[in-house]
Amino acid sequence: MKPIEMKPNVYWVGGIDWDLRYFHGYVTPRGSTYNSYLIIDDKITLVDTVKHYLADEMLERISTLVDPEKIDYMLVNHVEMDHSGSVPRVMEAAPRATIVTTSKAKRALEMHYKKDWEYMIVKTGDELKIGSRTLKFVETPMVHWPDNMVTYIPEERLLLSNDAFGQHIASTERFVDELGWDIVREEAASYYANIVFPYGAQVMKALDVVDTLPLDMIAPSHGLIWRSYLPELLKEYRKWAGNETDRKALVVYDTMWGSTRKMALALREGLETSGVPVTMKSLQTSHISEIVPHLLTAKLVLVGSPTINNGMLPTMAAFLTYIKGLRPKKRTGFAFGSYGWGGQGAREVASVLKDMGWEMPEETVNLQYVPGKEDLAGLKEIGTRLAKAI
Ligand SMILES: Cc1cc2nc3c(=O)[nH]c(=O)nc-3n(C[C@H](O)[C@H](O)[C@H](O)COP(=O)(O)O)c2cc1C
Ligand SMILES: [Fe+2]
Ligand SMILES: [Fe+2]
Repeated sequence: MKPIEMKPNVYWVGGIDWDLRYFHGYVTPRGSTYNSYLIIDDKITLVDTVKHYLADEMLERISTLVDPEKIDYMLVNHVEMDHSGSVPRVMEAAPRATIVTTSKAKRALEMHYKKDWEYMIVKTGDELKIGSRTLKFVETPMVHWPDNMVTYIPEERLLLSNDAFGQHIASTERFVDELGWDIVREEAASYYANIVFPYGAQVMKALDVVDTLPLDMIAPSHGLIWRSYLPELLKEYRKWAGNETDRKALVVYDTMWGSTRKMALALREGLETSGVPVTMKSLQTSHISEIVPHLLTAKLVLVGSPTINNGMLPTMAAFLTYIKGLRPKKRTGFAFGSYGWGGQGAREVASVLKDMGWEMPEETVNLQYVPGKEDLAGLKEIGTRLAKAI
């Protein structure tokens, strides 16, 4: 288990979760990593840990460099258990160690692990000298838990950003440039859409601080380390956090007998003939967490459900519950669906989209049973008008 030296005496000592396919409701086809970092200075500092079942892997990597007993500081940037899950193992191996964290994180660690550890409480603006290096702390509350913090090391121009800028990718490569911008950008966008999306305002504040730091490396707690593409990454984050979208459409639908799908295809035709690219997502074939990266950058979102037992399909209810929580703003929406007698499905969809504050320039289209030629021509026309509206 080899550590990777990222800067002189600063090592990646994390764990690679090759088998992770499901991360609290987010499908992760590429697996993930939990990145912990070991800084060997006068005070030996471990930054964050790994999920509990990878503790041995992390400790083995650390042991090739120093006896874990020698760890002085266990720095906790975030309490969620993918990063703090091995803190108990570290504290057993290094009983002299002090946990360096925020007061909020201390309380949360106590509630998670019920242990009486030594703490040093830090807050934004505090600095901790560990020898030739300084740890500077910046709290980033609600990016994405109340306890989140990032740590900056000015002597290394290195930001240890925890969940921010992360991606769920298991790989032999450790640096973004080794795997390639395209793949990592795509996974960073998916990570942002599924985890960070609701906290755009807080992300903007954090980006304003990051912009003041001389930086040549950002080391997140998942996936690859950024030593290149920093301006590109920060630009993307600003765009996502600001709910800035592209002139394109996302159509999300489900269907029992194909009518709502026919409607979706007619809408697509109208949009595409008006020059708006359309991503089509059926809830039967795409998991909701695979759809939201498209929502991240689409201005126009068309959502279709038939009616089942006086309501929308449960797959659609799950999708809408999920995106309501992600709080996408500044979108234009449209609801549609086929029904037999009551027609509540499309109406329920419309009401959720309206509640999210989206613009809805077109009335909901609810068609009885199988759409005919004229119905489809009307939907195509709506597609054309929606294209003009954005
Ligand atoms: C199990 C089941 C339950 C249904 N419940 C309702 C309902 O409560 N109200 C209604 O308006 N239509 C209901 N329908 C009729 C469908 O909404 C109708 O067949 C519609 O055209 C299906 O659209 P689709 O082809 O996109 O699935 C139901 C259909 C099925 C199969
Ligand atoms: Fe987290
Ligand atoms: Fe995380």
